[in-house]
Amino acid sequence: MFVGGEFYADTRWQVDRMAISTDGMIFLNGGKACLIVISECLLEHGISKILLPSYLCPTIVNTLEGCGLICDYYPVRADLSIDLNELARKAAHHRAVYFINYFGFRHSAVVREYLVGLRQQGVMVVEDNAQAGFVEKSIGDFVFNSMRKLVPYDGGYLVTSYDVTPYIKRHQGCPNRRLPVIRLYRKRLGDYLFEGIGGRGEMEGLYEQAEHDYETDPVVEGDPQERWQIEHLDWQAIRQVRRENYRYLLGLIAEIPGVTPIFPALQEENMPMGLPVYVSRVPRDWLFDELGNAGIGLTVHWDDLLRDPRLNEDAVAVDMASRMLTLVIDQRTSHRQMDYLAENLASGIRNYGMSVNVPGKNEPFTFEQ
Ligand SMILES: Cc1ncc(COP(=O)(O)O)c(C=O)c1O
Repeated sequence: MFVGGEFYADTRWQVDRMAISTDGMIFLNGGKACLIVISECLLEHGISKILLPSYLCPTIVNTLEGCGLICDYYPVRADLSIDLNELARKAAHHRAVYFINYFGFRHSAVVREYLVGLRQQGVMVVEDNAQAGFVEKSIGDFVFNSMRKLVPYDGGYLVTSYDVTPYIKRHQGCPNRRLPVIRLYRKRLGDYLFEGIGGRGEMEGLYEQAEHDYETDPVVEGDPQERWQIEHLDWQAIRQVRRENYRYLLGLIAEIPGVTPIFPALQEENMPMGLPVYVSRVPRDWLFDELGNAGIGLTVHWDDLLRDPRLNEDAVAVDMASRMLTLVIDQRTSHRQMDYLAENLASGIRNYGMSVNVPGKNEPFTFEQ
């Protein structure tokens, strides 16, 4: 059995009608494209520094710095909540503040009120919904998401009242080298998993090429075909299945010692990206590999933080990145697959010290995003 891994081409969620209203949203190539546009807009408004949470994906910093912004950080606690006192202390020296709705979960009402207050004082607030998808009650001056975290399509929607057309136009015509490669990869991955067609080497090569192109090319414009596909997905059903899966898996792991969910309950209406847990008793990386050998492809958000000198001086963030593991609950995942995941989690932890990790042919396709 396989569980998790990268998204493969999947027509199951397609519907004939337009299934989501994207009025007032600007469709771009992905989260990175949104970050480029936001950075250029901030710079144009004379803002050259931005205050970020200490727990984040280093690629965000790469993009912001690549555009010319200077990054500073405020602390995030192990439960992914924001230390408001520290944020307030630091925010006094900044005109732009960034926050992330981690794994699709909103911050507390107090934090949100504080951020709204910052905005009223003229601070530019960037709301990162890369892991949250389409969020109804957003509060930022700039609000964006990333589709590839949730479905097998590329794109990111940006909402802002600033006129960002000049920054989008600036990048028009940049060829999208990634798109044909990732489309082929997503198709081949489905063929491989369900029909046994193709080989791992070819697919790994395609994925690496696609990621390399994504990181290298400053593509901003979104692709109309990807957009059409995204807007003809049954988002209502996707949300429901993710929420139902989240609850189901939460129940399955409740009694497993050494696995502690970071968000022990869903929020009203939120769409979880995954079920993040802290692993204790056994080394997280060992467990990750052990599950990989059983065909279970999980993700670590964000392993690269550990090796990034801009981020790895924060002891709390390093501890979080060393123990966190994101379990899969996405729309593809069946109860049987989650049963298998929970069984392997429990047996892995129970048998730690008795088995030796041997990279197996079952290793899933999973990469950090
Ligand atoms: C929280 C968060 N924001 C933004 C991004 C960038 O999104 P994209 O991968 O669509 O460029 C990422 C990517 O990992 C992310 O994790």
